[in-house]
Amino acid sequence: MAKNIKKIAILTSGGDSPAMNNAVKAVVNSAITHGLEPYLVFEGYKGLVENNLKKASKKDVKFIGAKGGTILQSARLPEFKEEKVRKVAVANLKKNKIDAVVGIGGDGTYMGLARLTEMGIKTVGLPGTIDNDISSTQYTIGFYTTLNTIVTAVDQIRDTMESHNRAGIVEVMGRHCGDLAIYAALATGAEVLSVPERKLTIEEIVKQVKQARKEGNRSIIVLITENMYNANELAKIIEAETKVETRATVLGYAQRGGVPQAMDRFIATRMGEFAVEKLLEGKTGIAVNVNNEEMTTKNILDVVKMKRPSREKLLKQYDNSK
Ligand code: F6P
Repeated sequence: MAKNIKKIAILTSGGDSPAMNNAVKAVVNSAITHGLEPYLVFEGYKGLVENNLKKASKKDVKFIGAKGGTILQSARLPEFKEEKVRKVAVANLKKNKIDAVVGIGGDGTYMGLARLTEMGIKTVGLPGTIDNDISSTQYTIGFYTTLNTIVTAVDQIRDTMESHNRAGIVEVMGRHCGDLAIYAALATGAEVLSVPERKLTIEEIVKQVKQARKEGNRSIIVLITENMYNANELAKIIEAETKVETRATVLGYAQRGGVPQAMDRFIATRMGEFAVEKLLEGKTGIAVNVNNEEMTTKNILDVVKMKRPSREKLLKQYDNSK
């Protein structure tokens, strides 16, 4: 195996997601195993620009796998789109003789890595976001944990809605991707589901709530993705139109924190190890994916431009199963 690199920097950027730490740990350990020097960069691209990094040892990452959030901390740095800002980051990397950067995050992180690649830095991206909105991979790091948090919350909301004969709107994260809501609806049997991939009008939601009540449901769960409605306003409209008492819960940031679940840890660890392997093979400007248990890579710019896979089949299964 050609050893074209000596030092690797690792960063997490954008919204944190559970098990990012497991990916960091795997990159550090695997780099050391291969005789490379790993560096931890703090606060994402901001840390690259501010030269906020330190050399990592296995001891530094030994116990991070069971922690939520990211021990590398995160930040959003829109200024990284500017070449002059990126030049500072590249100069810092060169000063530290760092040859490669492994970035863990979503689309924004991938764009940053693509730009760094053009500026001569070797890069690999790992999909770290709760939203599952990276088209080249079946699952992103953190998705499983957040999905579990949502399912637990919906079950709890169901208990109290059932006691009170109410409808409960549950708004979940996902940015513009409905996966968290779709998977949670399938897992919990929510009566109504509205997601960006199939947005219901308010009239359609009202109609479905009425129908669910007609079918004898005391509790009615309405699962929605964020950025589509005002959940509290929607609750008032449903209540006025259906006479079913309705409450709204916006799950918010509780969905992003918490101890990472086993599958996220498993995927993140495999991806971290795989990233180092690919760098050692001389690959750069790539994103790592997992599809049906197989780790694959794809050009990172192509990934950012990729269309999201259709969710028709899942939505049909939801419709048939509720
Ligand atoms: O991308 C992850 C995510 O949690 C989205 O689901 C959400 O829309 C967004 O980040 C929130 O971002 P911020 O932490 O900047 O409020």
